[in-house]
Amino acid sequence: MTTLADLRKSYERAELNEDASHADPLKQFEQWLQEAIHAEVPEPNAMTLATVSSDLRPSTRVVLIKGYDERGIVWYTNYDSRKGQELAGNPYAALQFHWVELERVVRIEGIVEKVSETESDTYFNSRPLDSRIGAWASPQSQVISGRGVLVANAARYGAQFLLQPPRPPHWGGYRLKPERWEFWQGRKSRLHDRLRYGLQPLSEKGSQLWIRERLAP
Ligand SMILES: Cc1cc2nc3c(=O)[nH]c(=O)nc-3n(C[C@H](O)[C@H](O)[C@H](O)COP(=O)(O)O)c2cc1C
Repeated sequence: MTTLADLRKSYERAELNEDASHADPLKQFEQWLQEAIHAEVPEPNAMTLATVSSDLRPSTRVVLIKGYDERGIVWYTNYDSRKGQELAGNPYAALQFHWVELERVVRIEGIVEKVSETESDTYFNSRPLDSRIGAWASPQSQVISGRGVLVANAARYGAQFLLQPPRPPHWGGYRLKPERWEFWQGRKSRLHDRLRYGLQPLSEKGSQLWIRERLAP
């Protein structure tokens, strides 16, 4: 059996420095996400979402990014799920992408709000029919007595809504508005590159600027 202590890898693919990175973290994210897509890494759109419960216990799960712009990062889920309940009690959350083959990580922290009903409707209606029925069939994060519950629910809602299931009221999007970003590029000898972007306090004109700082690995 392989000893875990002997499992190690040298990261030598690329570098990230102040001169070659974007001043706007959203642009840096866009570049890295596009590079991950073009490199055909598995599930480049998968990100870990961390939330914190009202009794201050953190939890994580994987979700798929479905949009991003200057307003933030969007994903879709069940609002009654564990993550939904935790976000209702504490809107601060963190996201992390790990593009293993590119030796890159992006961490994003900020505050989360629901996207508009119209935005959720538009995305819901773009999903395949079985996924739309699935949103009705699965009481996400609740205990169920067996897989048969899901199969029976899917059959029931499929028969009820036929080809036009409406968006369930408990299903929709969230948007995390970033307050802090970190871009991590693996380097040789564990001397990795880390650039953190934080928001400068509001200027008198009301415009916000990002401060970019290098962190020790
Ligand atoms: C690659 C991948 C993508 C996923 N995407 C989503 C997603 O976009 N939305 C979602 O609700 N769950 C998604 N899941 C399932 C979640 O990881 C999780 O099991 C579910 O949302 C329940 O989490 P919760 O009980 O903490 O709320 C995905 C899982 C994987 C492995």
